[in-house]
Amino acid sequence: MRRKLVAGNWKMNGSLAALAELDAIAAAAAEHGEVDVVVCPPFTLIAPAAARTPALPIGGQDCHGAAKGAHTGCISAAMLVEAGAGLVIVGHSERRADQHETDAQVRAKAEAAIGAGLRAIVCVGETEAERDAGKAVAIVDGQLDGSVPRAGTGETLVVAYEPVWAIGTGRTPSVADVAAMHGAIRRKLVALLGGEGDKVRILYGGSVKPDNATELLGVEDVDGALVGGASLTAAQFVPIVAAAATL
Ligand code: PGA
Repeated sequence: MRRKLVAGNWKMNGSLAALAELDAIAAAAAEHGEVDVVVCPPFTLIAPAAARTPALPIGGQDCHGAAKGAHTGCISAAMLVEAGAGLVIVGHSERRADQHETDAQVRAKAEAAIGAGLRAIVCVGETEAERDAGKAVAIVDGQLDGSVPRAGTGETLVVAYEPVWAIGTGRTPSVADVAAMHGAIRRKLVALLGGEGDKVRILYGGSVKPDNATELLGVEDVDGALVGGASLTAAQFVPIVAAAATL
């Protein structure tokens, strides 16, 4: 049995004042101990977040593939660890689009993260045009080929399926489409990683809200959620954690 993981991605939102939201999120995480919960705020809030709610795992939203060097504006995996992070998201579609990150770079980031002792959430997902063209599974398959670190295990690696057209739009794929994609991702992970591929958690992300969380999290091979907008407030995020705990 894979433990459910509910991860919040604050993106470029939040402030020191917003860390007050973590109090109720940490309380919910403690109450629902059968679910793993993590919040990924912007880099500058990682250390204060970790200090504020020490029992609540905190993550980063990106790291560099190199350990150190002349990479102005970037953050290494070891720096995230030092700041108090236990996990990092890599290859989010916003970074693949805005920063032109390639599969090879995403894989290097995931490898650097795991090497530094972090768990890595590797994000994949198709655009609307790719889905309309019937290429969704092939696109995701290719992203997994290119981005998944082959040393990843059920402990160190998580994959998030986030259809680009569902992120921040309020639109979600049908349950049947989510099931088909997560099944395809599972088969691919087993092909790439052998037995560990069965243990890697596959999150669904894209407009997960309190009112659709039970349905989405109940789909086979959906082992949790990567939540953007609804992770910004405890009022929205805690019900998603609670929904995961009922499954
Ligand atoms: P959303 O974002 O929940 O706001 O759609 C999800 C994500 O991008 O991780």
